[in-house]
Amino acid sequence: MASGRGDEEGSADGAAWRLVGRASELAGTRCRLMYSSLGRGSDVCLFYVKGEFFAMDARCSHSGGPLCEGDIEEADGVLQVFCPWHDYNFDLRTRKSGTSLQAECWWKNLVPSS
Ligand code: FES
Repeated sequence: MASGRGDEEGSADGAAWRLVGRASELAGTRCRLMYSSLGRGSDVCLFYVKGEFFAMDARCSHSGGPLCEGDIEEADGVLQVFCPWHDYNFDLRTRKSGTSLQAECWWKNLVPSS
């Protein structure tokens, strides 16, 4: 699996790619914390839920809670992670919260590789 973000130096077409592992190996863990060389604020949670990968910032946009440690629940077909600090929820697909908060993700693309 490769990840890409649009603003790293030395990238072609505005996207840099980094191999983070084989999809088959990454799928064995519900959430992995992917450390960024750009600093703690750019770390990413890579979730694997119900056969799909999702990525979002590792720190909650409320007060920085560790989203990789949050519970994941599905309600009305929406997969959500709940921040372990104050229980705010974030949709794994849209990264929007039931509050007005929005989680971000530095990674623009996830490309599975076998
Ligand atoms: S830090 Fe995540 S809900 Fe407060």
